[in-house]
Amino acid sequence: MLSTEDNERMCRVGPGTPMGKALRHFWLPALSSADLPEPNGDPVHVELLGESFVAFRDSEGRIGLLDELCLHRASSLTIGRVESGGIRCIYHGWLFSVDGTVMETPNAIDPTFKSRLKARSYPTRESGGLVWAYLGDVEPPPFPDFPWLGSEPSMRHHTVSIIGCNYVQLLEGMVDSAHLSVLHKSFLERSASSDLNFATKTSHMKFDAAPAIGVEPTDFGMYYSAVREIDGEAQIRIAPFLLPFWVLNPNGDQASAVVPLSDEKSAFYTIWWDGEQRFGEEPLRTKQVELVGRTPELLEAHGFTRSGYASPRRMGRENGWHQDRDAMRKGHFSGLPTLTLEDAVVGVAGGPIRPRDREMLCAADVGIAMLYRSLLKLPQEVERNQRPSSASRSVANLRGVHVSAPAGSNWKEFLPKSSA
Ligand code: FES
Ligand SMILES: [Fe+2]
Repeated sequence: MLSTEDNERMCRVGPGTPMGKALRHFWLPALSSADLPEPNGDPVHVELLGESFVAFRDSEGRIGLLDELCLHRASSLTIGRVESGGIRCIYHGWLFSVDGTVMETPNAIDPTFKSRLKARSYPTRESGGLVWAYLGDVEPPPFPDFPWLGSEPSMRHHTVSIIGCNYVQLLEGMVDSAHLSVLHKSFLERSASSDLNFATKTSHMKFDAAPAIGVEPTDFGMYYSAVREIDGEAQIRIAPFLLPFWVLNPNGDQASAVVPLSDEKSAFYTIWWDGEQRFGEEPLRTKQVELVGRTPELLEAHGFTRSGYASPRRMGRENGWHQDRDAMRKGHFSGLPTLTLEDAVVGVAGGPIRPRDREMLCAADVGIAMLYRSLLKLPQEVERNQRPSSASRSVANLRGVHVSAPAGSNWKEFLPKSSA
């Protein structure tokens, strides 16, 4: 349970809000490199933390991220032309480089006028198939050192789902193992025949909806664990939660991030990588995203893409959340056709920002309570005039863990040793 005040503090991410100030100390995934495929290609609208930007790749291949609205008279640069080494506003032709330098102002006769101006630009980095942005006012922290960032494209794959709710209510699903045996019941039954890592490592979950949940606070956030005792063995699953919004799946081959685009809209990134399997190549690439319902076709069909988001395809009350009541009567538990849709609907259907002042947390929700506490520490750190320590911590050695151990084993014995 959280007071309305703390809930607001945790969920609101716009400029000047306590959490918004904290999140502006982190490198944030902003879009996929594939969204800006070529020099001088079309500009892209980017939303992050309640602000609007334009991203473009100039003739040299450099990426620019500028405030969306033109410095001159606030027309949108997302309708601009990418040319002449920058982006040109189509209203009066002002031309901006990737670092915000004003290169041309055709309607201002004074030749020195432009040298007195600069558009606001933001540092970007391209790594791991993603374009990362830093929106803070102070020097950026070290760039994250996730091991998959340096891997070959053939070894990794990522998807992005755009979902219409606050980031916390999507993060909650990743530190809430009990819901897998219920919400994803039919998915687990169906996936039992799959040979994919995700399916084999989660198939035991359908037998136990009340795992023993544990948490261990850490300097990066927390370890979250779920232990199910099945056939005399303890199935121990441990997921590190990395502030501000990363969760490493216990299967060891997935990193997920829920990046707030605004208070009521989030980008759910999932990266598949384990250092050995060729997730970026067929057949694994399609097989994996098909299993969880994140092929490009499925994302588009359910309105999870930037282009699908504004369409009637986006799940909502109006289209019954894509829920198939007939399938439910015939035995499907949720009536929702994919795992991704199941998670998204429970995030969204309660409203874009869920009230938490009356929720009844139980023992299974200890991860949720720790998630709230960990997140709320971020604005506290910033208010003490510090940058969040988790913004500059190495994450290279953190991993999710899944082990089968003798019944009664203590899950903390299986924490990765090198993660301290
Ligand atoms: S509004 Fe962009 S050049 Fe005038
Ligand atoms: Fe889920």
